Amino acid sequence: MSLVSDITPRKISEENLLRLNEELTAARDQALAASRAKSTFLANMSHELRTPLNAIIGFSEMLVEDAEHLGNRQMVTDLGKIRMSGAHLLDLISTILDLSKVETGKMQLEIVEFSLPALVARVSAMLTPMIAKNRNMLAQAIQTDLVTMVGDETKVKQILFNLLSNAAKFTTDGVITLGVEHEVDEAAGRDDIVFTVEDTGIGFRPDQIDKLFQDFYQADMSTTRKYGGTGLGLAIVHRFCRLMGGEIGVSSEPGIGSTFRVRLPRHLVAEPHNEVPAA
Ligand SMILES: Nc1ncnc2c1ncn2[C@@H]1O[C@H](COP(=O)(O)OP(=O)(O)O)[C@@H](O)[C@H]1O
Ligand SMILES: [Mg+2]
Repeated sequence: MSLVSDITPRKISEENLLRLNEELTAARDQALAASRAKSTFLANMSHELRTPLNAIIGFSEMLVEDAEHLGNRQMVTDLGKIRMSGAHLLDLISTILDLSKVETGKMQLEIVEFSLPALVARVSAMLTPMIAKNRNMLAQAIQTDLVTMVGDETKVKQILFNLLSNAAKFTTDGVITLGVEHEVDEAAGRDDIVFTVEDTGIGFRPDQIDKLFQDFYQADMSTTRKYGGTGLGLAIVHRFCRLMGGEIGVSSEPGIGSTFRVRLPRHLVAEPHNEVPAA
């Protein structure tokens, strides 16, 4: 008799645990399916969203020119705002779509051999207005014997552009340094290019580091109010690094500055390291 009363509660709790486990598994599967459906929807919407936006941007550009010819300055200013907002929205949508493409495993790599000095020159040129805006200086520290790299040039460019534009945004009257180095570790079988983006800006606290690479994360609400942005730049940088078999690290001190360090294989051969959630 005593035996039965001993076992019954344990049996019940075991059954409870089993049931709970099943419920949790079902809930997780549902959440994963919903997340995949969301990403697939976004990826499929790409064309639908971009086409009308490109029309808005294109036609407002034409109207700006017309208004310039007519000498209507107020109109030029207002139409310029429409064009700028359109471009901003397109940029935002492209980033969200890129993120969902990586998540659904649809992001492809386009591997080519490209010149590192030429890439650095192009990225620097793109950033000139942004660097000048807060009276910053852009310095380059590129290992002189570095010539080419084999990888997805567009994605490497996007990584550098995002990191450098953050540096320019969060630094005033400072120096931003872009470094490119070759690192070989024969024992580990590694041959990498290491890009560093160092700034003398506002920096952030060590406890914020883990969160920086999450979607939509910004250090605090005042950041959003003061600097704008969406908190998606570093999320995409992180995804792209992983996709190309690389990694990103960061160190920072509030009020002193930040250093982002991206390590990518010098010869990318593999298929994309897509993060498809397990079924
Ligand atoms: N160079 C930097 N210096 C200081 N803070 C930075 C720097 N880069 C990124 N951050 C912090 O990380 C957050 C996320 O960056 P990011 O994903 O590019 O988003 P966004 O630039 O749209 O705010 C920023 O809002 C900011 O708080
Ligand atoms: Mg950013």
